[in-house]
Amino acid sequence: MKQKLEELQQKLHEYTINSSEDLENFRLKYLSRKGLMNDLFEEFKQVPNEMKRDLGKLMNVVKTSVQEKFDEATEKFKSDKIENTNSNIDYTLPAETTELGSRHPLNITENQIVAIFTKLGFTIAEGPEIENDWHNFSALNFPPNHPARDMQDTFFIDEEIALRTHTSSVQVRLMQQKNPPLRAIMPGRVYRNEAISARANCFFHQIEGIYIDKKVSFADLKQTLYAFVKDMFGEEVEVRFRPSYFPFTEPSAEMDISCQICKGKGCNICKHSGWVEILGCGMIDPNVIENCGIDPEKYTGFAFGMGIERITMLKYDVKDLRTFFINDTRFLKQFSNL
Ligand code: PHE
Repeated sequence: MKQKLEELQQKLHEYTINSSEDLENFRLKYLSRKGLMNDLFEEFKQVPNEMKRDLGKLMNVVKTSVQEKFDEATEKFKSDKIENTNSNIDYTLPAETTELGSRHPLNITENQIVAIFTKLGFTIAEGPEIENDWHNFSALNFPPNHPARDMQDTFFIDEEIALRTHTSSVQVRLMQQKNPPLRAIMPGRVYRNEAISARANCFFHQIEGIYIDKKVSFADLKQTLYAFVKDMFGEEVEVRFRPSYFPFTEPSAEMDISCQICKGKGCNICKHSGWVEILGCGMIDPNVIENCGIDPEKYTGFAFGMGIERITMLKYDVKDLRTFFINDTRFLKQFSNL
C-alpha cells in the first residue's frame, strides 16, 4: 500500500489540469464516491494496526495534495470564466435606466380642459360609445333625412344602433337623468366614417359641455368660453364668434381664436387668415330640452363642443393628426415633460 501511495503522489505531481473539462475528470477520478481516494480509505481500514501510523501520515499527505490540486484548478477556471464572459463590461459606467412612460398628448390636453371647466363649476359625465339613433340624432333635432345620418358619415351597426358621431348624445342622457341646474362636461371618443388624412381620422375625441338653469343666456356662454380659452392659451389670445348652424342649438355659433402658431400673422395652419376655429356652440334648442323631459318655458341652456385633437394640434404645433395614433415613441417622448 505504501508503494501505491508513493506512486500516486508522483502521478499527482505530473497531472496537469488545462481546462474545466480536465478538472471534472480529475474530480471523478480522485474525489468522487467511486474515486481513487475512497478506494484507498477502504483499503486503509484493512491495514494491520501497527502499520496504521506511518501509512496514515502518507495517506494524509496524498489526500491534501489531491484536495489542493483540485481547489487550485477550480479557482483558476472560475476566474477564467468570469473574465471570458464579462471582459467587455466597464463597471464604472452608469447603469442603463428603465424608460418611464409618459402621458399621451391627447390625455394631457383633455386633463387641462377638464381642470379648467372643473374650476368653473362643471362636473364630468360619460356615456356609451355604441349609441342608439334616438340619443345620437332624433332627440337632438336631426330630421330623418339629415345628411349626418348617411352611411357616408356614420358607422351603423344596424338600423337603430351606431357608433356615436359626437358626445352630444351624453348631453341627452344627462338631461333625461337629472333635473336642472345642470352644469357638466362630457369627454369621450367619437367615430365618423371619414377618409383618413392629416386633418381627419375615423375616430377622434371631443369634449362637450352644457349649462342648463333658469335664465341662462348667450352672454353666459360667451363668458364661460372666454374664461376657458384665456386659461388654455394665455391672456393675449383673441376670440371671435361666427354665426353657424347645428340642428340642436339656436342660435348657433362657431368660435375662432387667433392662430397660436403665427400669432395672427398668417400661416398654413390658419390658411393665412390669422384665425382658427376651435369649437361649435349655441343655445340649446327648446325642442331638445323638451325631448329630454325638461320644461323649456322654465329653463334655458347653452352647449358647446370641441375636438381634443384639434386643440392639441394648435397648442403644440402638430401638423398631422395621424401622429397621435401610430404610437411612435419619438413623437410621444416630446411630451414627456408636460
Ligand atoms: N356636436 C357638435 C359636433 O360634433 C359640436 C357642438 C356641440 C356644437 C354642442 C354645438 C353645441 O360638431
